[in-house]
Amino acid sequence: MSSPTSSQAAAAFRTAIVPAAGLGTRFLPATKSVPKELLPVVDTPGIELVAEEAAEAGADRLVVVTAPDKSSVVEHFRSQPELEATLEARGKQRLLRKVRRAPELITADSAIQDKALGLGHAVACAEPNLGADEDAVAVLLPDDLVYPAADESGVLTRMSEVRARYGGSVLCAFDVPPERTSSYGVFDVSDTEDSDVKRVRGMVEKPQPADAPSNLAAAGRYLLDRQVFEALRRIEPGAGGELQLTDAVALLIAEGHPVHVVVHRGTRHDLGNPGGFLKAAVDFALQDSEYGDDLREWLGERLNRS
Ligand code: G1P
Repeated sequence: MSSPTSSQAAAAFRTAIVPAAGLGTRFLPATKSVPKELLPVVDTPGIELVAEEAAEAGADRLVVVTAPDKSSVVEHFRSQPELEATLEARGKQRLLRKVRRAPELITADSAIQDKALGLGHAVACAEPNLGADEDAVAVLLPDDLVYPAADESGVLTRMSEVRARYGGSVLCAFDVPPERTSSYGVFDVSDTEDSDVKRVRGMVEKPQPADAPSNLAAAGRYLLDRQVFEALRRIEPGAGGELQLTDAVALLIAEGHPVHVVVHRGTRHDLGNPGGFLKAAVDFALQDSEYGDDLREWLGERLNRS
């Protein structure tokens, strides 16, 4: 069977859910008053990078799941007429483009998660935002940045192709060292005829290495059949006492729903902790036309000194 083209597959979802209700404890004290999702990677908030990825894969709407007091995340996607007028009057066209970019990328709505009951609960909070005709939805965890190897389209586009071919739900997997399985959802898989696609036989949240079915972990990209919301209503608290998205996916698998993973071989950054965030910032800055050359030169000198 031949794969459908990206443009056919891009119709797989219109809405991307971004859970962003956490306290950002690993970034305290910065996150006392600034949501983690607005911390800048060079000059762009992580949430805008994630929105760009969703839009490129065909989404036209972001549903940001926030705590009641975190509305500034969605505000980033509103236009700022006064600021824009000031920049325009001063002839700052480049900055004007940067300011307008987020609202032009995608429409952002919010869904409120009153209590931090887990990722599964956060995703369930966005169900009322979906249109009646939407039979699949993407979920992007803003802690994860998932970038394609050079010249490839993004992983969400590939995931849409896989849903078009195999049906059901499609997640993204990447290899982790065996001792790191307890930080991730981990897959039990079998091969398909596509080398970058595995069929998922089971999924377990944060297993100890001895209990992990493989080294293939969930990156924070999900293309979920709408049936997931029904499964989310039936799960019990799991790892960490939280309602886990992993457990809803595992329930769907157990009931015969097809679930596949696209094995991601490109870059992944973890913005969820300062160490991972720094690597992402340096990686982006090195590629930046304004800051890259200077940073490369300084880093070289600095590393020689240490
Ligand atoms: C979440 C998911 C986990 C996934 C991870 C990817 O965990 O529950 O299955 O592997 O994101 O970053 P968290 O990092 O929120 O603990």
